[in-house]
Amino acid sequence: MIHLCDDTILRFIPPETQVSLYAYAIHRDPNHFWPIPDQFWPDRWLSQERYILPSGDRVESVITDHEVFMPFSASPMGCVGKNVAMAEIRAVTCAVVQQLDMKIADQTSLERWEKDIREVFVTSRGTLPVVLEPHYS
Ligand code: HEM
Repeated sequence: MIHLCDDTILRFIPPETQVSLYAYAIHRDPNHFWPIPDQFWPDRWLSQERYILPSGDRVESVITDHEVFMPFSASPMGCVGKNVAMAEIRAVTCAVVQQLDMKIADQTSLERWEKDIREVFVTSRGTLPVVLEPHYS
């Protein structure tokens, strides 16, 4: 481990180590998404001179770190369906916004929904060598 002068810490990871990133925490980290990192606020992705928060307050600048945004994961292990998913999301979102009004259903709590979010990882298995031999009678 090496401490750099600006408090950054470099850690050396041994070869063959599996590394997982906690996307939920990264996507809500105020160092990467600010302000209101815990809130769904699509305007943060727009390039504009001034931003108006859902509260009505104005902010002059926002932090939106495109480099750490990885809903489909990254690397060759990432989602193979990303392009299909993006095409579907665009098509469905456009159709819904054009044709439907949408609101949270009665008796539904957004706070409860937030609390119930669970982060899970795709299962990874070790190798399972097998031997195949022809049947001899
Ligand atoms: C919003 C939609 C989607 C999201 C957010 C998403 C996200 C992800 C994530 C995070 C992974 C795990 C990658 C990893 O283990 O590091 C993954 C894997 C995978 N996704 Fe998606 N995905 C979406 C839609 C789709 C669709 C539409 C398909 C197929 C058409 C698909 C097929 C796959 C497959 C096959 C894997 C396993 C890849 C592998 O282990 O090599 N996904 N996805």
